[in-house]
Amino acid sequence: MTIEAKPAIEVKDLAFSYEESVILDGVSFSVRPAEIFFIIGGSGCGKTTLLRNLVGLERPTRGEVLFDGKSFTHADANSRKEMLKTFGMLFQSGALWTSLTLSQNIALPLEEYTRLPADEIRNITAFKLAQVGLAGFEEHYPSEISGGMRKRAGLARALALDPRIVFFDEPSAGLDPVTARNLDELIVQIRDTFGTTIVVVSHDVDSIFGIADRVIMLDRSKKGIIAEGKPSEVAVDSANPKVVEFLTRRGVKAG
Ligand SMILES: Nc1ncnc2c1ncn2[C@@H]1O[C@H](COP(=O)(O)OP(=O)(O)OP(=O)(O)O)[C@@H](O)[C@H]1O
Ligand SMILES: [Mg+2]
Repeated sequence: MTIEAKPAIEVKDLAFSYEESVILDGVSFSVRPAEIFFIIGGSGCGKTTLLRNLVGLERPTRGEVLFDGKSFTHADANSRKEMLKTFGMLFQSGALWTSLTLSQNIALPLEEYTRLPADEIRNITAFKLAQVGLAGFEEHYPSEISGGMRKRAGLARALALDPRIVFFDEPSAGLDPVTARNLDELIVQIRDTFGTTIVVVSHDVDSIFGIADRVIMLDRSKKGIIAEGKPSEVAVDSANPKVVEFLTRRGVKAG
């Protein structure tokens, strides 16, 4: 008999509206520990909105989000803050501070959330940059490195506090296919090394088939999930032509 580990993330009957406009309704799913889990679907279906609900930037209008079996939605401010410290996030815009060096960018969360001395913080930032293949670029500014390197620097910053869960919004957007595959490899390597749970929002079909353990596909008119499972199974089994169409346009940047 195998013992099922408690889900790392559980979303129960989540609904969310921007003012009068309902974006998500009745969304339920679980993410297992150390899983690479993708949220996929066409533009405007609510992927970023769902991610923002997961990390507490938006509050669900109904339903609940739990981490390791503990309610995040109904936790008090202190427990929420403690839970937030265990997340790393890399948003769609990437958002490194352009006036700060890579080293300073990665030091920010450490300065905000820990009381480590400056030399320790310097060691950690150097280590995190090395982890994403950017050793030696500590004193570079974001404008002095390529787009792919900026993504990796953003990843180093997301990893600064040794998160248990990392959330990514469109990590491969704007990258050439080779750089995007390298980033995928790095994501897998981080999961394999640290057992990190990884949630990725993406329309990149190569990335979905390349590294996702499981996916959920959202749909704008359903305001929720229209498919769930392993990418290869979902692509073959789904009775919904939207799902099959989305997953079979390989090599095309879905809009
Ligand atoms: N701050 C906001 N206020 C009002 N409506 C919003 C806001 N942000 C997003 N929306 C609407 O919510 C819907 C879902 O947006 P969301 O950004 O979650 O989509 P997405 O799936 O991430 O799309 P994309 O693939 O283009 O990033 C869209 O119809 C969008 O117009
Ligand atoms: Mg989005």
